[in-house]
Amino acid sequence: MKKAKVLVTGGTGYIGAHTAVELFNAGYEVLLADNFSNSSPDVLDGIEKITGERPLFEEVDCSDYDAFEKLFEKHSDIRAAIHFAAYKAVGESVEKPLMYYKNNLFSLVNLIELMNRQGKSSIVFSSSCTVYGQPAKENLPVSEKAPLQPATSPYGRTKQICEDILKDSAMAYKDKLNVILLRYFNPIGAHPSALIGELPRGVPQNLLPYITQTAAGLRDVLSVYGNDYSTPDGSCIRDYIYVCDLAKAHVAAMERLLDKSGEMKDNIEYFNLGTGTGLSVLELIDLFKKSTGVDVPYRITGRRAGDVEQVWADPARANEVLSWKATTPIEDVLASAWRWEKKLRGIA
Ligand code: UD1
Repeated sequence: MKKAKVLVTGGTGYIGAHTAVELFNAGYEVLLADNFSNSSPDVLDGIEKITGERPLFEEVDCSDYDAFEKLFEKHSDIRAAIHFAAYKAVGESVEKPLMYYKNNLFSLVNLIELMNRQGKSSIVFSSSCTVYGQPAKENLPVSEKAPLQPATSPYGRTKQICEDILKDSAMAYKDKLNVILLRYFNPIGAHPSALIGELPRGVPQNLLPYITQTAAGLRDVLSVYGNDYSTPDGSCIRDYIYVCDLAKAHVAAMERLLDKSGEMKDNIEYFNLGTGTGLSVLELIDLFKKSTGVDVPYRITGRRAGDVEQVWADPARANEVLSWKATTPIEDVLASAWRWEKKLRGIA
């Protein structure tokens, strides 16, 4: 028998699709919702090929209340939701702030309202380490206790406001709403099968897709945004976490909400999801070559506006409370990203 029916908004997106696979692996009934604004229906085939099961799917814009309500009328047995549906490009959010506020905030408000109407509701929310900004040196690695900093982009602000919306809602609906907020560091890589992975639109903004596209010959040269930071090699440091490890953390969060909510001290909990290790941009380029044998031409350019210098996670709370740990070696992660890029480009 299947476990509970879980709604995954943004379910055909990058992290949503990998999470759908892990939910199936854990025995849940999986319902994906997406409007394909940044993904494609092929993703459903990829999930089916990997798991042997096709997820239930509804094409819907979660920021459209009436349309979203219809989904809930059709699926009155949704027990819990994982909310990914959101725009995520920092630069675009500066140019189109209202589009970001509307999509990212309305979707969440609608979800909470509609879940609450179902009765008891459990929500896992996709947040970001961006809420910490540049932590003070003494706060590295970053635990959940580190102070939050004012956001530097409308995108980052939507994550902070969404966290506030969930906090206020959890307080107001103590008896019916349980929430887990997951703050991701830098998700990378693709499913080992190369059947699902990241699909950046246009020129990639994130580092690893730019690396793999340069390796594949789509881009001439990778720009390294600055080597004059106060880090050992001068380039920025991040905590790169494998998307499949990250997906498993969502299953652990779901199990806590549905089966172990009695263990929750509060009806809202926060977890940092990272490996606990920081890698510089130059180290990542080097590791990519070691893992794949492919050299990526790069040049040092000026700093990118809004970049934080260094941030990596202290995942101890997630390790302990969720019994979850990011375990995949970085070499395997980078190889998975390269396998996916080669598959996309038809490279042998
Ligand atoms: C940021 C946010 C993250 C958010 C994401 C959304 C932080 C710490 N992280 O990720 O929460 O979800 O945006 O897109 O605020 N780089 C290059 N050349 C490139 C691309 C990137 O050198 O062509 C460097 C960047 O300067 C950075 C690192 O690579 O140091 C990672 O960049 P990226 O992949 O864009 O992620 P973040 O900016 O860390």
